Amino acid sequence: MVSVSRRSLLALGAALPVLGHLDWALAGPPPKKSDKVLLNYNESPYGPSSAAREAMQRGIATSGRYPYPDMYALAALFAQQQGINEENVAVFAGSMAALRYAVLAFTSPTRGLVMATPSYEVPRQAAESHKAPVHEVNLDAQHAHDVPAMLAANPQAGMLYLCNPNNPTGTLTPTEAIRQALANKPRGSVLVVDEAYIDFSDAPSCVSWVKEHDDLLVLRTFSKIYGMAGARLGLAVGHPALLERLAVFGGDNVPAASSLLGARASLEDVALLPQRKALNARLREETIAWLKTHGFTCTVSHSNCFMIDVKQPAAHAIERLAAQNVMVGRVWKNWPQWVRVTVGTQREMERFREVFAAQVMKA
Ligand SMILES: Cc1ncc(COP(=O)(O)O)c(C=O)c1O
Repeated sequence: MVSVSRRSLLALGAALPVLGHLDWALAGPPPKKSDKVLLNYNESPYGPSSAAREAMQRGIATSGRYPYPDMYALAALFAQQQGINEENVAVFAGSMAALRYAVLAFTSPTRGLVMATPSYEVPRQAAESHKAPVHEVNLDAQHAHDVPAMLAANPQAGMLYLCNPNNPTGTLTPTEAIRQALANKPRGSVLVVDEAYIDFSDAPSCVSWVKEHDDLLVLRTFSKIYGMAGARLGLAVGHPALLERLAVFGGDNVPAASSLLGARASLEDVALLPQRKALNARLREETIAWLKTHGFTCTVSHSNCFMIDVKQPAAHAIERLAAQNVMVGRVWKNWPQWVRVTVGTQREMERFREVFAAQVMKA
């Protein structure tokens, strides 16, 4: 079994000064067989950074007051870092809420949703509950969004959803294709670009485009690279008039002061993102290289998850791994032999390989 030794990881730290001290990434003993290894929800195995944890503690003390000043301060900091106006940023208790509200605002029984498959299911579920027609379009041969097919899918669409990098595949859609979607989508529709995983990739963000386009909404979250999934904090970025349309459904659905302060501390810690990005990429690529050596095909991921063709019904592989306490992601109906794996810590990926070799390769 290929494994990453502590020494090789520390050597990586020496080679890439940006990684700095990696002890935090290796902290703690390897998982015991009875410990669940959670590679199933694309969460960060590292949690909030230490600066974020300290800030979150401070947030407890201020929780007697409504958190609006902290909310505006976070929006202002994000806007300043991205070179946009703070009026272009709305804060929600998780980007999932903003995404659901977008579907409610921009689709209807006559103006449907167009999205890719496999992709993040929340917009489809929201549209279905709202009786809006849904057109799901297969990813193209490179596992990018097939923008020409999406544009042709429903000329009456009210919303196009594009997840970049895509969940569950981790694959990217070229910026030119996203520009094409924005330029050619049905009249009166809104393009929603979900950038939950963008910070794991080198892809350019669409956030700055909102300065020129009032029909583009970009979503961001602190749940992934910043490790704050449980703190529920997401951002919607767009023209103020678009953000108003989301606010109707839940503009008061704001996060707690602790979450807001933790998010601000995460943005202020400029070393954090490149450290986590480099470590995630290293562990992802090592795991994929090992799987390829053993004859498995994986998606070309730029994210904290990737998919594996397990050459058997995905549900079998998931069950066999779960029986050994290694939890991986679910089954996507049109990719029935592929499973999604979230990139965990070095030790978790070692355990994943051990159990995969015993339970899936030999199945
Ligand atoms: C593509 C995508 N968008 C949004 C979300 C939701 O993120 P949040 O925790 O901010 O609600 C997820 C969570 O897995 C996701 O994969």
